Amino acid sequence: MTLSSKDAQTLSATQSPAQSKKAKAANSKLDLLSQNVCAEIDQWLAKYPADWSISASMPALRIVQDSNGGYLTTDLMDAIAEYLDVPAISIYEVATFYSMYELKPVGRHKICVCTNISCMLCGSDEIVSHLKSKLGIGFGEMTGDGKFSLKEVECLAACGGAPMMQIGREYYENLTTEKVDEILNKLA
Ligand code: FES
Repeated sequence: MTLSSKDAQTLSATQSPAQSKKAKAANSKLDLLSQNVCAEIDQWLAKYPADWSISASMPALRIVQDSNGGYLTTDLMDAIAEYLDVPAISIYEVATFYSMYELKPVGRHKICVCTNISCMLCGSDEIVSHLKSKLGIGFGEMTGDGKFSLKEVECLAACGGAPMMQIGREYYENLTTEKVDEILNKLA
């Protein structure tokens, strides 16, 4: 059956941006982005001028990372670039620059410990040693059961509560080794 131009227009109007782009690119990776993910990215795209879709790179990376168990793959970054219609390198640059993006699997609880100047002066070395020996892993590693991963990060803008760490979206400040134990024990 051949579509009339009116039918084609109607079909095009009912397609999501991802679907219509998919029709154009034979090697498209847009299938990797679910409808929900695309809808969430669209909410961010709507906040910027149409020719500034690159501005949605950071939220798009976060949304896709969250939907993929906490980490990004090259294919997913390519799909984001395709969806935003920007060069893939622009997406790689953002994903490899900021510490909140992960390029390999992470634990269910991603522990980010700040070791920058304020935290270092207030005892982050002791917190890091304690975490490493308690979990049996180093920075950039994940426990065997996939529960925790450990990451060293730069200042997370909570210097007044140094030493501090971030787990998921929560900040934990004024840490002591005892407080770290309490926090980890509460995590399922
Ligand atoms: S130096 Fe650690 S939060 Fe700023």
